Amino acid sequence: MNFNLSEEHQMIQQAAKDFAEQELKAGVIERDEKAEFPYDAVKKMGELGFMGMMIPESYGGAGLDCLAYTLVLEEIAKIDASAAVIMSAHNSLVCYGLYEFGTENQKQQFLRPLASGQKLGAFALSEPEAGSDATSQHTHALDMGDHYLLNGTKNWITNGGNADFYLVIAQTDISKGHKGINAFIVEKGTAGFEIGPKENKLGIRSSDTHSLLFTDVKVPKENRIGADGFGFKCAMQTLDGGRIGIAAQALGIAAGAYDLALAYSKARKTFGKPISEHQAIQFKLADMEVEIEAARLLTRKAAWLKDSHQPYSKEAAMAKLFASEVAMKTTIEAIQVHGGYGYVKEYHVERLMRDAKITQIYEGTSEIQRLVIAREILRA
Ligand code: CAA
Ligand code: FAD
Repeated sequence: MNFNLSEEHQMIQQAAKDFAEQELKAGVIERDEKAEFPYDAVKKMGELGFMGMMIPESYGGAGLDCLAYTLVLEEIAKIDASAAVIMSAHNSLVCYGLYEFGTENQKQQFLRPLASGQKLGAFALSEPEAGSDATSQHTHALDMGDHYLLNGTKNWITNGGNADFYLVIAQTDISKGHKGINAFIVEKGTAGFEIGPKENKLGIRSSDTHSLLFTDVKVPKENRIGADGFGFKCAMQTLDGGRIGIAAQALGIAAGAYDLALAYSKARKTFGKPISEHQAIQFKLADMEVEIEAARLLTRKAAWLKDSHQPYSKEAAMAKLFASEVAMKTTIEAIQVHGGYGYVKEYHVERLMRDAKITQIYEGTSEIQRLVIAREILRA
């Protein structure tokens, strides 16, 4: 067993670190305050190959593996967790779904521009009354022969306002339960497809989250992904990979907060010495280091399983569950290490705490991860 990163992985990690430091850091507080989408940075992420990381070069992607993907997400999330989720939803939910289950025509038409970073993707599963209970889809796709007629509302869609292509899940035949659910690509601008107002959020404020409204939207039959009735499994398998991405995002948030807390603890003096020399602060730093390393190992193991084509559903859920809990705990402790300074925006840790919270909610709440893990344990 080798825990060292290859030279190529180290170079990719360094490229992501440099990008985050040079392109994301300067405006991150302002973007958070104004809830401004990082347009220029997302364009550069496309140029660097970060928007189609696991897609082969023949489809416009970077042709890298899931481990490389987690390294990049961790570095980006250390500085800007909003940019990380924009990238994660686009890569692991939309590009992956199209690459794994799309037809050659769908890959040429939709995946190629997405993977090369020219277009942005969004994944639309959740609804006002169907979040954790994802099979109870109310959005309906009526089979009209050569097309589907889409009606309904999706909620909380990341990249919702800025995406060009939307991977939308909808119920075609309710009598078949989850086997009556389909997945479609819907293009922005299609008649009857409206984007709802932007949500005003606690964290990840510079990623845009919108509801999507469909009224008699005509979706060509060739835009359905996979066989009739495959939509729910397509979403579940896609989310398995997505959870590795969110684990890496959470890990980055935790590691970013830890780096700041460590540096601050060496600089800040009380009672005649740096606070890092007080044992109470040292124990916080020690706990952070242990938990972050454990989260990193779980995340990389899940990525390694995916890369080596072994089952990874349980491990992805374990990584996402643990890393998101570590992100929340670490960011709260990082504020504590900063004292009053941690409570104001310019020290970054309060934003990281607000950003951390969502990692326990989206792509399946912590309760749903436990449910997935428990089912896998009991099935084995
Ligand atoms: N891979 C393949 N198939 C799977 C699967 C997986 N990981 N998980 C379930 N399935 C299959 C099952 O085998 C079953 O098929 P069969 O009947 O043929 O055996 C079918 O799907 C239904 O599965 P369940 O009976 O387990 O379904 P359930 O109703 O009990 O729900 C659940 C399972 C795990 C709770 C699921 O609903 C779930 O994951 N909920 C959370 C939803 C979620 O994560 N949403 C995230 C939205 S995207 C997002 O949030 C993006 C973002 O923020 C950026
Ligand atoms: P509910 O399902 O109503 O859950 C409420 C509470 O009950 C939670 O604590 C939950 O864990 C608990 N609970 C529910 N069922 C059970 C159970 N069986 N056992 C134990 N506890 C349970 N969705 C998308 O499709 N695409 C996106 O791009 C996307 N981006 C998002 C971005 C943001 C900022 C947010 C806030 C959400 C996003 N979501 C997205 C939706 C997200 O995936 C859902 O919010 C999440 O899955 C939870 O669903 P819910 O909000 O309906 O909560």
